[in-house]
Amino acid sequence: MHIEQNISLKPYNTFGIDVNAKYFISVSNNKELKDVLKLSNYPKKLILGGGSNMLLTKDFDGLAIHVNIKGISVITENSDYVTVKANAGENWHGFVLWCLDHDYGGIENLSLIPGNVGTAPIQNIGAYGVELKDTFESCKAISIDNQSLKTFSKSDCEFGYRNSIFKNDAKGKFIITSVTFKLSKRNHTLHTNYGAITSELDTMGVRTPTIQDVSKAVIAIRERKLPNPKVIGNSGSFFKNPVISTTLFKTLQDNFEDIPSYPISETEVKVPAGWLIEKSGFKGKRFDSYGVHKNQALVLVNYGGAKGEDILKLSQLIQKTVKRLFNISIEAEVNIL
Ligand code: EPU
Repeated sequence: MHIEQNISLKPYNTFGIDVNAKYFISVSNNKELKDVLKLSNYPKKLILGGGSNMLLTKDFDGLAIHVNIKGISVITENSDYVTVKANAGENWHGFVLWCLDHDYGGIENLSLIPGNVGTAPIQNIGAYGVELKDTFESCKAISIDNQSLKTFSKSDCEFGYRNSIFKNDAKGKFIITSVTFKLSKRNHTLHTNYGAITSELDTMGVRTPTIQDVSKAVIAIRERKLPNPKVIGNSGSFFKNPVISTTLFKTLQDNFEDIPSYPISETEVKVPAGWLIEKSGFKGKRFDSYGVHKNQALVLVNYGGAKGEDILKLSQLIQKTVKRLFNISIEAEVNIL
């Protein structure tokens, strides 16, 4: 077991924030992970997956564990469905492409989402009308306390909008080591009604889309709207879309006729935080090395060399301004460390 010292975490977070971990280890199988967790002389531990949903604001003075467990395998199949297990360290988009190569359907709308398979269930990643939970079968996770391996079924995970048990009761207690999905082998159900997918397919000249076409359309839309973290550091949506009462929504409509919303229930609607932030004047604003993306106001960016603290302060200024103008509290989606 090789524990390194004073390692920069810049390559391990998609925001590209340069902070150090006092101790660092990368593990490539369950046994190594269990052995590391048994070490009693490192009480503080930070688990790194794809690093796509975190903002690091200071050096970490404990042991950072990079979960790099690779492997994809078919568990069961019949003529209609297949269950596929992907280990936690697989890159999410790489896994989506692997499924498309095998013509397995269900996660094509989740193309190009940054991060790894093992962290995808934590926030129940979602895009273009599909969420991870729709194809999720189960996941395996190691207990940080006693290193036992536990299987979580779909209902155990308590999935919600960008939410799961791993952000609540199980937070900080488990490390997901693999995720199993149930995918279709034929008669794929396509989800093309959301947003711009239909018009993108039209532009592509596709009349009867395949799952591969849907993936290509999603990739084209995302590439236009969202910055590539390899080029400009970012963590995708920084905030969740807030759910507000229909009463507040109606009051806001008096002043802002064009305010978009998605119905949640008879008494609640969800409002796109990107719209609120744009109306608050932040879209495309650049403060030296960091700012708000020009094509999607939900995304905060690091142009290079930004400090996590600066981005955190900007996010707080955005929250305050949105609260003042709309009386809506927007909550960070990323984990702030
Ligand atoms: N909008 C603006 N200005 C902006 C951005 C958005 O006015 O700068 C308004 C527009 O009215 C647009 C609406 O917001 O019609 C919705 O925008 P978009 O379709 O881009 O979706 P979103 O609600 O802003 C969510 C997810 C994204 C996901 C897209 C597509 C959250 C927090 N974000 O964004 O997820 O890709 O839908 O499904 O739910 C992520 O989680 O990292 C992420 C990128």
